[in-house]
Amino acid sequence: MENIKAIIFDAYGTLFDVNSAAEKCKEKIGKNWEGFANYWRTTQLEYTWLRSLMKRHKDFWEITEDSLNKSMKVFNIEPSMKNDLLDLYKVLSSYPEVKETLNKLKEKNYKLAILSNGTPSLLNRLVSNNNLENIFDDIFSIEEVGIFKPDSKVYDIPIQKYKIQKEEIAFLSANTWDVSGGGNFGYNSIWVNRNNNIFDNLDYSPKNQVKNLSQLLDIM
Ligand code: LAC
Repeated sequence: MENIKAIIFDAYGTLFDVNSAAEKCKEKIGKNWEGFANYWRTTQLEYTWLRSLMKRHKDFWEITEDSLNKSMKVFNIEPSMKNDLLDLYKVLSSYPEVKETLNKLKEKNYKLAILSNGTPSLLNRLVSNNNLENIFDDIFSIEEVGIFKPDSKVYDIPIQKYKIQKEEIAFLSANTWDVSGGGNFGYNSIWVNRNNNIFDNLDYSPKNQVKNLSQLLDIM
C-alpha cells in the first residue's frame, strides 16, 4: 500500500450497518428479522443493477422503498411498520470502530472520501448523525453520474476530482462485488470481510483483506 494518496470508502455495509434498521424492530418483526434484513438488502442491490442495465434510473432512496415494499410482502410484515423501517434506514448506525479509525487516518494526511450509491442528502445525514462531520474531504454520490455501481463512471468520479492515478487510491468495501468493481477499474481494493464470507469470482482478488476498519491502520 505504497503511494496511496486517497482512501475511499463505500458507505452502506462498510461504514454504516445496513441491518441496524431491521434490528431495532426485531421484537415486532420476530425471529426472522435477520433473514428479512438480508432479503431487503439483496433486493435493493438487485434493483440498482437492474435499473442501471435497463437505463431506468431512480435514486437510492426510491429503490430502498421499492425493495422494502417487496420484502415486507415476502416476509408478511405488518404494513404499518413501513415508515418506522424507512425512518430508521435514514439514521443507520456506523460500526463501532469507524470514527476512531477515520480520525487516525486523517492524522496521516490521506484524502478521505465516501463513494456511494446513496443520494447526497442520505449520505450527509448518515455522516452527521454518526458525528463524522469534519472527517471526509468529499462525499461522492453516484447521482453525479446517474448510474449505480459497478459502472466505471462511478469509480472515475474521485479520479476526475483529485487528478490522481487509479493506483493511488485505496478503496474499501464490505460488498464483495463492489471490491471487484473498484479493483477491475484499477483501484487497490481492500475487502472489509466482517463476517468471514467467501469472495466472488469476478476477475479480481482483493489487494488486502481486513476484518474491520481498525485493521486498516496496520497496513496503511
Ligand atoms: C454503497 C452501497 C453499495 O454505499 O453499499 O454504494
